[in-house]
Amino acid sequence: MPQAFQVPRGTQDVLPPTSTAWQHAEASFREVCHRYGYEEIRTPVFEEAALFARGIGDVTDIVSKEMYVFEDRGGRHLALRPEGTAGVVRAFIQHGLAAPKAVWKVYYIISIFRYERPQAGRYRQSHQVGVECFGAPGPDADAEVIALNMAWYDSLGISDHGLTLNSLGCPVCRPSHREALQSALRAVAPQLCETCQGRIDRNPLRVFDCKSPECKALLAGAPSTLDHLCPGCQAHFDTLRTTLEALELPYEIDPRLVRGLDYYTRTAWEVKFTGLGAQDALCGGGRYDGLVEGLGGHPTPGIGFAAGIERALLTLAELGIEAPGALPRGVFVAGLGDKARGRALLLAEGIRRAGVRAETDYFERGLGAQLRLADRLAARYAVILGDDELASGQATVRDLESGVQEAVALDAVPEWLRARCVA
Ligand code: HAM
Repeated sequence: MPQAFQVPRGTQDVLPPTSTAWQHAEASFREVCHRYGYEEIRTPVFEEAALFARGIGDVTDIVSKEMYVFEDRGGRHLALRPEGTAGVVRAFIQHGLAAPKAVWKVYYIISIFRYERPQAGRYRQSHQVGVECFGAPGPDADAEVIALNMAWYDSLGISDHGLTLNSLGCPVCRPSHREALQSALRAVAPQLCETCQGRIDRNPLRVFDCKSPECKALLAGAPSTLDHLCPGCQAHFDTLRTTLEALELPYEIDPRLVRGLDYYTRTAWEVKFTGLGAQDALCGGGRYDGLVEGLGGHPTPGIGFAAGIERALLTLAELGIEAPGALPRGVFVAGLGDKARGRALLLAEGIRRAGVRAETDYFERGLGAQLRLADRLAARYAVILGDDELASGQATVRDLESGVQEAVALDAVPEWLRARCVA
């Protein structure tokens, strides 16, 4: 036998009934987004690689180590998207959607690709839900996006999580923080790992991405962006905090939270669930007021977040929360004998056309086996068709909950079931 294939490392198949949980998570997200006035955007799975290098930053791990880059047959330098924001910003600019005093609010449900070391909760192809909001400069937009983010977890039943918040400042206050951080880092440079040493001059904020315990310990007292906020950033942060408190959205401040992407300005946040182990970040987001301009558009503020679907589902499993079943309860049509089986197929189709889920037997089983199958399929009614029923023109319809049977004219069966099964 030829060798069978396996999924590529770091990817997984989603089979039923697990796919039901995915549909539930995605449907809840759509519902929440629609409540907040967001509409869906779909962008390509691959983009020019330079878009991500410029948007996310070429010193970030995502761009420098994890991106799936390739050349197509026409010699174009492309990349599978490692996240959703850059593509959405590209679309916003390309379609000329910037307008004064107008806000553009979109959501997406996408797969992303990062060449990371696979482990529980970390994959090379993973899936995100996310939103982006363009044009709203004030902290009320930040509060609304954070509220939407929390509303999704609430709708899934995940309320036991931690929201951490930070402000990363803006081009006005960043230089003084950068300088203070660089001089603190230079003082301990020989003890830092090689990667962090390389970051001191190129992009010092990225040292906070380092996972090495030695670097983390050395960075414990490093200057934080919060100590260097300009009056505008301070006021934005203070108002956001007051608004979150008024909305009863609890949070903690983490001055070490810098996120792994370079585009953030001012607000940044993450939600963690400790039950997930090492990969405990459920989602992350923030404001990116310079990104549209940096990618060639009119200066437009932006803010958004993305949340891992796999990690949300792992959290639900950890909490013992089950997704509702995907398939509606329906009807099993049991045909007995060649003639009745042929009629059962037609009747099942008529029932489906009337809007009710209907299943039949594919293996010429006897009545007992077919009713057991109806049970396994959680059918609400069984329609039994044998020679007697064909002769009388009436099917036997059995209520599988009460066991009560009734004779219903064959032609009237679909409508009879529709009236009882479709809410
Ligand atoms: P991110 O923090 O890189 O942000 O990713 C957001 C979430 O995606 C993570 O918290 C995690 O749940 C999930 N995730 C990321 N990589 C993986 C992986 N390899 N395996 C499993 N889950 C993963 C962004 O992507 C930004 N674009 C968020 C954003 C939108 N900021 C503003 N707008």
